[in-house]
Amino acid sequence: MQIAIDGPAGSGKSTIAKLVATKLGFIYCDTGAMYRTATVMALRKNLPLDDEAAIMDQLKDLTITFKPSAEGQLVFMDGEDVTLAIREPDATNNVSQVSALPQVRENMVARQREIAANNDIVMDGRDIGTTVLPNAEVKVFMVASVATRAQRRHKENVEKGIMTSVADLEKEIAERDRKDSSRAVSPLRKAADAVEIDSSNMTIDEEVAEILTLVKTRR
Ligand code: C5P
Repeated sequence: MQIAIDGPAGSGKSTIAKLVATKLGFIYCDTGAMYRTATVMALRKNLPLDDEAAIMDQLKDLTITFKPSAEGQLVFMDGEDVTLAIREPDATNNVSQVSALPQVRENMVARQREIAANNDIVMDGRDIGTTVLPNAEVKVFMVASVATRAQRRHKENVEKGIMTSVADLEKEIAERDRKDSSRAVSPLRKAADAVEIDSSNMTIDEEVAEILTLVKTRR
């Protein structure tokens, strides 16, 4: 079974997707972490972020792997733990530019489909229901106001020791939404058959319960 959870930055997708996966015993794939890892690689190698050929040259052999841990999920780039590095402002502020490159998307989508091929999976991102797993049995599109999303991100960042103001986060989130929604290749969009969940006034437990109910009806 495939469960696709899409939505804008900070809509709570990852938190909910992880919990749903744990409850069902499915694997969880955070596709945003994959685009973030590609961005960290390009920044570290000082590649111009609009040089698709240079980025692809390095990306094609780059390994991106996940490992479950007590604190969530660890992300590795060629074996190096980049779990924290991919959440730094530099990666966050540049990821939309890298993720808009068509060949980068093609490469990531192929990796994501491979991960999904032999597993019951919960996958979260921007284009999972529309492009990566168009036949997913359950598709959810999560939304929340920019203010709510910035508050949530702020809380998460504080817990991780990353210091950013709520006002800056609001700007960053709105800008990332704009870029992710307006790119030419598989922009952030609700799939026609996705169920929209507005999490602004819902608890995490309520959101998870709503998705588990959907899963029951589609099984
Ligand atoms: O989900 P997260 O906020 O970590 O995603 C980081 C960025 O990766 C997004 O802003 C977007 O540019 C890109 N992304 C994407 N397609 C996905 C997942 C993430 O373009 N499926």
